[in-house]
Amino acid sequence: MQTLQTLNQQFGREGGVTFETGSGGLVRAVLRSAGSEAQVYLHGGHVTHFAKVGERPLLFMSNESLFQAGKAIRGGVPICWPWFGPRSGYPESPMHGFARTSLWTVEGAEMSGGETSLRLGLKDTEETRKLWPNGFWARYTVTISDRLTMRLEVVNTGQGPMQFEEALHTYLAISDIKSAEIEGLGGVDYVDKTDGMAVKTQGGKPMRIVEETDRIYLNTKSTCTVRDAGLKRKIVVSKENSEATVVWNPWIAKAKAMADFGDNEWQSMVCIETCNVNAHAVTLAPGASHVMTAIVGSQSL
Ligand code: BG6
Repeated sequence: MQTLQTLNQQFGREGGVTFETGSGGLVRAVLRSAGSEAQVYLHGGHVTHFAKVGERPLLFMSNESLFQAGKAIRGGVPICWPWFGPRSGYPESPMHGFARTSLWTVEGAEMSGGETSLRLGLKDTEETRKLWPNGFWARYTVTISDRLTMRLEVVNTGQGPMQFEEALHTYLAISDIKSAEIEGLGGVDYVDKTDGMAVKTQGGKPMRIVEETDRIYLNTKSTCTVRDAGLKRKIVVSKENSEATVVWNPWIAKAKAMADFGDNEWQSMVCIETCNVNAHAVTLAPGASHVMTAIVGSQSL
């Protein structure tokens, strides 16, 4: 069991990494680099905050979020793994897998070259094997500099092949969804989850969100940019080893129906999720590993 005291003794780094009690009494790491700060909860391995020094946060966090064992945090970057959405064929399984509600272990912390990193790990246990029968070691490295880099590595430690989906479900903070423009997905096919999984093609113009939007963009490695005229900035989400991107905004009715989300919060967020889901699920042979990385930065407009 990693206590606050042992965490700070072993992994605390002066000026860079501190562990403290966060919301709901859950343990979080506070990271600082020369140009930025972040918070990461061990519950879910969940990044809840990232901001460049003197600037507004890039990540949206709901004011109604729960911070409770067994419940997902609403906002920041939930890790959806080893499946995305409802698990096909297992309606009783938790939505978006169990990684986001599991307690991750701290495996390392480093400061070098102006960057600060925290390394977390999650391994299979009796509990996870009841939900999903595979042996695994998930290793998650959060690095901050003037941008936030999240690297999810999954190792198959079991005896047979293993298949999973993965998403770094990144909630971005924006001033107004109605004026935000998303670039980078023009001409890409997507599965429309609000329209019976119909496959459609994105038009060429920058995308505007005008209704509930829940789409899996397929076969795309592209960087996405969210232009926010109100905050005079654009948020840039780039990625490595990710073949799909999910764009999600719950809009009015769904926001009202979600207990852990404010009725009006849909206006100030959009999720651009770096993922390998649906047709892009990953299959790993025993002993093999896979790494997916999402990078979130910003530029002034
Ligand atoms: C998105 C899914 O990624 O996450 C949506 O595509 C889902 O279908 C949303 O509603 C939020 O999921 P949850 O489990 O965090 O409420």
